[in-house]
Amino acid sequence: MKIGIIGTGYVGLVSGVCFSKVLNHDVICIDYLESKIDMLKNGKSPIFEPGLNSLLTSEKGGTLSFSTHYADIMDCDLIIICVGAPQQENGSTDLRYIESCVRNIAEQMTHDMYVVIKSTVPVGTIDRMRHVFSQYPISETCNMYFSSNPEFLKEGSAVEDFLNPSRVVIGADDPESKRRLLEVYDAYKDKCYCVSSSAAQLIKYAANSFLATKISFINSLISYCEERNINLQEVATGIGLDPRIGPNFLQPGPGYGGSCFPKDLASLSYEIEHATEDRPDNCILEAVKEINNKSKLWPVYKVVENFYDENTCTLKPITIGILGAAFKAFTDDVRCSSTIDCVYELFNINKNVKIKVFDPIANNNFIHYLYDNTDISSKKLSERVGYNVTCVDTAYEAVTDADVVILMTPWPEFLALNYSKIKCLMNGNTFIDARAMLDEQAMSTLFNYYAIGKPHREKN
Ligand code: UGA
Repeated sequence: MKIGIIGTGYVGLVSGVCFSKVLNHDVICIDYLESKIDMLKNGKSPIFEPGLNSLLTSEKGGTLSFSTHYADIMDCDLIIICVGAPQQENGSTDLRYIESCVRNIAEQMTHDMYVVIKSTVPVGTIDRMRHVFSQYPISETCNMYFSSNPEFLKEGSAVEDFLNPSRVVIGADDPESKRRLLEVYDAYKDKCYCVSSSAAQLIKYAANSFLATKISFINSLISYCEERNINLQEVATGIGLDPRIGPNFLQPGPGYGGSCFPKDLASLSYEIEHATEDRPDNCILEAVKEINNKSKLWPVYKVVENFYDENTCTLKPITIGILGAAFKAFTDDVRCSSTIDCVYELFNINKNVKIKVFDPIANNNFIHYLYDNTDISSKKLSERVGYNVTCVDTAYEAVTDADVVILMTPWPEFLALNYSKIKCLMNGNTFIDARAMLDEQAMSTLFNYYAIGKPHREKN
């Protein structure tokens, strides 16, 4: 099949490359950003995603090309919209980029078009897009058939997830859209689950919200377990052994982050609240968000616990080394990363703390987010942190002279660090492991070691 992809962000690029190189379709990806398209034409991925670069340059599979022109995708059997649908301040979803894609297609089409929305959008979006299309004269002679095909790829393992999907959700309201989508995913026909377009859209929101709920549920037990000296990890494993619960997404941590869970939860919460008169069903999502906001600051509570100055009634002006800026391992994405929340909160408490951050691949994005981001809210925040945050090139530089070190992102390479050396380089000996990933026994012989969800051990 010939597939046109609009938007070469994370979803569009991974999907486009995999449709071509894994499922053997002929794919054209378009984006209005020329610099990005130029990079892709030269075989370079603008995002870090394991396995993507080698697929991008592979000779195998179908053809794969890049362009900035809508004209190049007008003869495609399917056009798949993968542009951003960001969250607005009130939690609702901004559909203007999706709408602009529909307008651009409507302006150039000369025959019926089959348009799939892969971006995560709320129920009702397709009706709205049908209305947008109906305003164009071409709608008197041709139709734009809309369908929904949400993605369930995780950043950092998106290619692997594409190769082994748990399911492919096809949300089509007309038989031809359904037929075309089933043909796209013919290699995964046993995994295809066909529903209405609205159900497909809600499946995506509900899946992300449910996973976020599991995380907040386990995180809601952190303080209680600390109080009672209970190892929460043992509890998580114990409940996860029940196949009705399952072991995944029960790892206690500094809250969920990323570009998906926070946004999707806010959007679903907004939609539910505005769809029902008596607003009865929404409290669970609000509780999940609240617990998450609190969990994100767990490392800060531990820092304050250890470095509170009774005289000034605030946090001492200490030096803090932070390991990890990405919202999870294997990605350079720092959006809604808990490291950012913690940095802001630490400066909020005491402007005179010094923070050094090291991330194996997300340093640039982190600094950009703190200092160069032009959106109004983060600009204000960058003013607040001043220039007391620096990114350094190695973990050892980050910990040098630090009174406390916080491990934020569970990069496997942090397991291989020399912790005796870290102890020597530090000024203090408090180590906060917000992912509980290090060897408790060994760490507590060296440090005043805190591991999230585990009873605190004083240095042996
Ligand atoms: C998530 C979903 O898992 C994907 O299925 C979905 O396609 C994607 O959103 C999306 O909507 O595009 P992603 O945001 O890449 O994927 O990351 P996850 O691996 O799901 O992790 C999300 C957050 O939860 C991370 O901050 C992670 O550290 C945290 N987490 C995860 C925990 O705190 N505990 C856990 O046990 C698992």
